[in-house]
Amino acid sequence: MRVPVLAGNWKMYMTPTESQSMIDQLIPLIEDLQNRKVVLCPPYTSLSVLSKAIEGSPIQLGAQNMYPVDEGAFTGEVSPKMLQALQCSYVIIGHSERRQYFGETDSSVAEKTLKALQYNLTPIVCVGETLEQREEKLTEPTIEIQIRKGLAPLVAGQFEKVIIAYEPVWAIGTGRTASPEDAQDVCAFIRTIVASIAGDEAQKVPILYGGSVKPENIKELMSQPDIDGALVGGASLKAESFARIVRFEE
Ligand code: G3H
Repeated sequence: MRVPVLAGNWKMYMTPTESQSMIDQLIPLIEDLQNRKVVLCPPYTSLSVLSKAIEGSPIQLGAQNMYPVDEGAFTGEVSPKMLQALQCSYVIIGHSERRQYFGETDSSVAEKTLKALQYNLTPIVCVGETLEQREEKLTEPTIEIQIRKGLAPLVAGQFEKVIIAYEPVWAIGTGRTASPEDAQDVCAFIRTIVASIAGDEAQKVPILYGGSVKPENIKELMSQPDIDGALVGGASLKAESFARIVRFEE
């Protein structure tokens, strides 16, 4: 019922020229695939190049952040209206790097999530615990707060338009992946929390795992009942490895 979503977050990598070259290699490797949603989230500076390059392909475009205002005097920011004009369908909200380095909070996540929906952008709302929180057995309370606050302004009918990405902070870019069973436990917990807020809509919400996803572990992660896809950082930068992830090929 939930179509697998494989999203690549290129973070602050890839010039427009490099982006063009990567997409030219990626499309032929995945264009025959059915029953997948494939999303690339490049830096803002590559959105224009990719919006043209993905035309007619199964790949959809997303941004890594947005400012939750239509337009205005906000130097350095990019609005959902601008993302929509560049054929973006998704936007990552509240990635742990944004929370850690740029002061994002659960309340900014809430504001951005609501605004993204108003522009028909699917928000990929990121949650996850730090290593310290995990060691103190605070994974579930941490994630519960992030979800309850992050989705607070949404009303019935909006929850099913959201994607949640569970990214344990200690697994991001470290080569340390949560075991498929641990990731499943947390993703199942996330679905329980969403169900307590949104009822049956929770069954339609794709929950992705992120944190050192690679071709070698995608198959096992995808075999878990509450893991509906992956948010991939490093391994999404090369066409060959991202294609293997999209195809669930080790
Ligand atoms: O958004 C992606 C995540 O931060 C995971 O990054 O696959 O390089 O660990 P990673």
